[in-house]
Amino acid sequence: MNDTGHVTPPRRDYCGNVAGGSRTQNFIRKNQLDSPAFICLSCFCIVLGLICTLTITLLIITQSSQTPHDPDSPQAYSRMTSKDQSTDIRFRLSPAVKPIDYDLYLHPDLVQGTFSGHVTILIRVESKRNYIALHQKDLNITKASLRTFDREENHEIPIKDRYTVEALEELVVTFNEDIPDGMYQLAFDFEGALQPDKIVGFYASRYKDEHGQNKVIATSKFEPTYARRAFPCFDEPSFKAHFTIKLVHPTGDGYHALSSMNAESAVINEPDLGLTTVTFAKSVPMSTYLICFIVSDFVSVTAPARKLNETETFTISVYTTRAQKDKAAFALDIGVKIIEFYTKLFRIDYPLPKLDMAAIPDFVSGAMENWGLITYREARLLYDKQTSSTADQEGIVQVIAHEFAHMWFGNLVTMGWWHDLWLNEGFASYMQYKSADAILPDWGVMNRFLPETLHPVFITDAKLSSHPIVQTVANPDEITAIFDVITYSKGASVLRMLDNFVGSETFNWGVTTYLNQFEYSNAETADLFRILQTSAGNKINITAIMDTWTRQMGFPVVNVTRKGTTFTLTQKRFLADPDAVYDPTESDYGYKWTIPITYITDQNAVPTLIWFDKDAPKLEIKLPEPAEWVKFNHDQVGYYRVNYDIQEWNSFVEVLQSHHKRLSISDRTSLIEDAFSLAHACQLDYTIALSMTSYLEKEQSATPWRVAAAKLKDIDKLLASTDVLPKYRQYLRKLVDSPYHDVTWQVDEFEDHDTRRLRSSVLNLACTVGHTECLDDVGEIFKKWIDDVRDVRPHPDIREAVYKYGMSHVGKEAEWNVMFQRFIDETDASEKLNLQRGLAGVQSSSLLSKFIGIAVDEKHVRSQDTFGCLLAISRNPIGTPLVWDWVRENWEFLVKRYTLNDRYLGQLVPGIAASFATEIKLQELKAFFDKYPEAGAGKAYRARALETVANNIKWVKINSEKIDRWLDSVIKW
Ligand code: BES
Ligand code: ZN
Repeated sequence: MNDTGHVTPPRRDYCGNVAGGSRTQNFIRKNQLDSPAFICLSCFCIVLGLICTLTITLLIITQSSQTPHDPDSPQAYSRMTSKDQSTDIRFRLSPAVKPIDYDLYLHPDLVQGTFSGHVTILIRVESKRNYIALHQKDLNITKASLRTFDREENHEIPIKDRYTVEALEELVVTFNEDIPDGMYQLAFDFEGALQPDKIVGFYASRYKDEHGQNKVIATSKFEPTYARRAFPCFDEPSFKAHFTIKLVHPTGDGYHALSSMNAESAVINEPDLGLTTVTFAKSVPMSTYLICFIVSDFVSVTAPARKLNETETFTISVYTTRAQKDKAAFALDIGVKIIEFYTKLFRIDYPLPKLDMAAIPDFVSGAMENWGLITYREARLLYDKQTSSTADQEGIVQVIAHEFAHMWFGNLVTMGWWHDLWLNEGFASYMQYKSADAILPDWGVMNRFLPETLHPVFITDAKLSSHPIVQTVANPDEITAIFDVITYSKGASVLRMLDNFVGSETFNWGVTTYLNQFEYSNAETADLFRILQTSAGNKINITAIMDTWTRQMGFPVVNVTRKGTTFTLTQKRFLADPDAVYDPTESDYGYKWTIPITYITDQNAVPTLIWFDKDAPKLEIKLPEPAEWVKFNHDQVGYYRVNYDIQEWNSFVEVLQSHHKRLSISDRTSLIEDAFSLAHACQLDYTIALSMTSYLEKEQSATPWRVAAAKLKDIDKLLASTDVLPKYRQYLRKLVDSPYHDVTWQVDEFEDHDTRRLRSSVLNLACTVGHTECLDDVGEIFKKWIDDVRDVRPHPDIREAVYKYGMSHVGKEAEWNVMFQRFIDETDASEKLNLQRGLAGVQSSSLLSKFIGIAVDEKHVRSQDTFGCLLAISRNPIGTPLVWDWVRENWEFLVKRYTLNDRYLGQLVPGIAASFATEIKLQELKAFFDKYPEAGAGKAYRARALETVANNIKWVKINSEKIDRWLDSVIKW
């Protein structure tokens, strides 16, 4: 019996194992998760968790001279069961004290690297209480006061005590007696440091100006829990309030201040000679994490954007360092187009009087959607025709489109708590494709959704260690950790699926209603589905369908069998590990999904939609007419895989070989991706997947090539330790030969966008597999550039390949030194990253070791780029053991520099280990996790890394020989 209660005969999978539904009867999580080391680790974590819980509780009790006795006191809280999915409610502030207005004054001292400020918060206390708790971290509070507001103005209430609870990042103010409900003004004076090395909170960023002078700016990044590092506040997304901000900046030298709202007034020589105090307009109600301040000498370009009524406008600006002003034009142009597109799509005006974008030299994320003042890494915003590649350019459009979508999804309507973060990030990650595709219809952006969003999340979500989109989070580490591929990319993928099955008109109507209904307020997942239901009618139950996708992890593979014109479909959770065992009862939905099945046939190109209910054991589809082939999951819009009988797969191989354009780009891409992933999971013969690649010689679209190249390179990495590799590479060299000659290293200015994107996939693959002509050519271009004293660089579209493969193929110490000097002198952020990746390609362990040292030296590599540099070195096979050893030896240093709350630190070791495929490496990884059991925001990444490496080991055992045999059959020696 399988888990649906139906009998399925045992059958062998493509790796020779006995497969079948009955395996899911065994309710034990198998593989590495139950290894002794992992159990040890888990026990340790549980004990550690208990100790932490106890410590926190003790801290709260001992730090307070008088135990708060309100019903919502921290102690009372911890006894309550949570309604809102937060596991550990002690991390939440009381809902009975609400901020209404903040008056915030901040004075950063750019020379000293400190700041001081005061804040007056108008609060509403909803029930009598003898303490107030709010957030603060690393601030020195020098004064606190509480005054009544709505009764006797200025009546001061004596504060009995104030103390901080470090573990909760809270500041608690207590009173001698209960204060009655009502309005109060809670005020603090405080001081802090412009976080010298951690680029979150309110921090200093440095750069060299066009004259080589060192410049300092102050800027901020608050999401998710860092506003509390800049001023005491109620730092949770549902505490929306109005903000009136005053910022002090140096007078002269081009310095000025920016914030979310427009500047209303400026007073010179206030608070002192040489300083100016700017007052910004009072904001709309907003969450603390969306506030931003910048004190800088940046310059700007501006343009008007039309409002909904097409006559009024507001100003969009792009701020950069003075030397880079010319690189802002592209972002400005795109920004105007995107904001106008969204305004019309949502039928809601952007609500603030202006929208600024700023490129920040030191920036922890790619970009941050602060309301009215979006901040970006320089490399993600600035476009220079001379240095930016076509891929960089598309990336800039995508980032702007993503952050602008947040102006509605996240800023206007915010998730009530972080477990619903996908309402922000999933929407922005989907809308970015819709809007980019709309303003640049010739770029084929929508096809890129597959390799950039859907396929990467399939990898994570096909593991036992995945998690549902809506997942319980409480403390700052858990909150940081949920900014992951599931939230972003699964969120975006299920929205794309929803948009498609309800139809865009219904979807857009629902979205507008949702935005209108919750504007300036907070929403939950259920609210969105409820509203969409009203627009979708009662033929389908949106909540029931969508809950199966958002409230359980994983996704199905739909198995299709054919008898004449009848197709029988069954579903099963897709897991990458053929031996993975799970308990279907651990999910409320039994790991079954209500699936929108779509299909096209060679007779009918218009997709048909039919529902496969989660409770149905199978779905039968009868075609009205015979068809040569039927492609299910048209354009891979559904969040599921499809597997067919061998004959069906073979007919796709044939169609691809004879008339590949009869299938859309996304359909071709999805067939390749499904075939390789199913083969990887032992659910399809690798021969099918590999045979599918033979049509690629004729493929001229970038996306199918990109996906195929990635899959083929994955296998290349896994075969690295086997003697099959030379033969495999020989096959790939032949496969890539004709496309290589088509694309060439010569970029024609009149080429279309897609051809340019194709070039880099093909050149990269050809170089990776040692295509002789490719390596000779790249070596020549590289040498010419190194020897050129004028340093005329190759075209931006081939630069990455030239730097990397040129260096690895012909680069010796002398070339490395020339390139290193150019890296040091480089001022453009994107180009610096290109050079960095190139330097990491050198085939010399001594140079790579030296480069590891440079990666952590802030003189040469900004702290934000260290991880990228280490990972680039680790992707070079000679560099892998060097980085792995170095990271293990220097882990404590890295933790100190970045903290365990850094989401990139948590991904470092999993990133290095991604290509590990031996038992020894797996043991090393486990030993490292055992040695440093505290993972902070990196906890989930560790579990995934262990699964990946275990799967890699298995893969090599199972597949290398099979691939060897297939190669023997196709290569004519
Ligand atoms: N809201 C995020 C920024 C962020 C990321 C805050 C992680 C806190 C933790 C922003 O909208 C975002 O998603 N930025 C992306 C880039 C984007 C193009 C996907 C990022 O920084 O990686
Ligand atoms: Zn985002």
